[in-house]
Amino acid sequence: LSAQKDGYRFFMEKEIYEQSNVITDTLLGRLGTDDIIFEELDPELFNGINEIKLCACGTSYHAALSASYLFERYARVKTSVEIASEFRYREPIMTKDTLFVVISQSGETADTLETLKMAKNAGLKTLTICNVDNSSMVRLSDATILTRAGVEKGVASTKAFATQVTIFWMLSLHLAKLRSTMDNGEIIKQIELIRQIPGAVKVRDEIHEKIKRLSKRYLHGHGFFFIGRDIFYPLALEGALKLKEISYLHAEGYPSGEMKHGPIALADPELFTIALLPEHMLYEKSKSNVEELSARDSTICAISPLQFEKADDFIATKNHESYMLEFFEMMVVVQLLSLEVSIRLGNDVDMPRNLAKSVTVE
Ligand code: G6P
Repeated sequence: LSAQKDGYRFFMEKEIYEQSNVITDTLLGRLGTDDIIFEELDPELFNGINEIKLCACGTSYHAALSASYLFERYARVKTSVEIASEFRYREPIMTKDTLFVVISQSGETADTLETLKMAKNAGLKTLTICNVDNSSMVRLSDATILTRAGVEKGVASTKAFATQVTIFWMLSLHLAKLRSTMDNGEIIKQIELIRQIPGAVKVRDEIHEKIKRLSKRYLHGHGFFFIGRDIFYPLALEGALKLKEISYLHAEGYPSGEMKHGPIALADPELFTIALLPEHMLYEKSKSNVEELSARDSTICAISPLQFEKADDFIATKNHESYMLEFFEMMVVVQLLSLEVSIRLGNDVDMPRNLAKSVTVE
């Protein structure tokens, strides 16, 4: 088995390093000059659609939350996101002008599959974003986009998430084109940015080394808050989930601006704040939220391309042209951070206790 790890300590590590290549596959044949091409989609799919509802579990749910920012910002389409196990039992209103989208790495998660059946029964058009061809969701859905991440072995999802968000960025532009909510010049610019994702997620030695070194500071304490604004909020949720899954430490993802409404009461040197501070998304606002936490003595690990003096630890990401490329680089940073903390704690990164790769029972 260790041979398949190609010299990496764990499959999760290998899969983090694979992200650049698998995203290249995700992009293959899909980037036109001024449009995104999804040959697998019948353009009819979007006719009469005024709203998109995304439904998923776990990491796929975080990808769905990220999608909601992109769909509303670029395609100006009303978007809502649901946790499948909640949606199933809350007698939701389903109207036929809603496109129902399920997101799943495996295509087999019981709760998500059930919501797809509900949407079909209610006569909604359905779309599945999935990594496994011919899975139950793919077979049931009107339309499918495959993410092409390859087999993911680590229970903690990494490359599947990366490809899901890549698909959503592309889909938001595809919809923007269809709905004429973005001019061609802007779409062309965005496509150029998308081409840069594989570069942005390439693991740089100095970043990995830095995270390895600083991880020893983050093994104890009474909790972690991953914080971010806008689409960096779902990334904060995902960073916290990764850490919980494989380190068994308590971590929460929170919107930076919401910390003052309760959680800041926990701040002391034993509270670790992992702050996502992108240059191109609400930098000043996010920075002042981190300063509030620093003033209350929380230990701060800032992830940013801009030097941040108040931080106890600082992970310098690159200067990118767009917040979305910053998103992808910071995604790798939070994945590596949870990996290194877990390894230092002596855990089995690929087989975390109590978790399964795919939850096909309720
Ligand atoms: C399990 C896995 C998670 C995954 C979730 C949803 O809980 O441990 O990593 O995000 O299921 O799985 P899916 O295959 O539907 O994306």
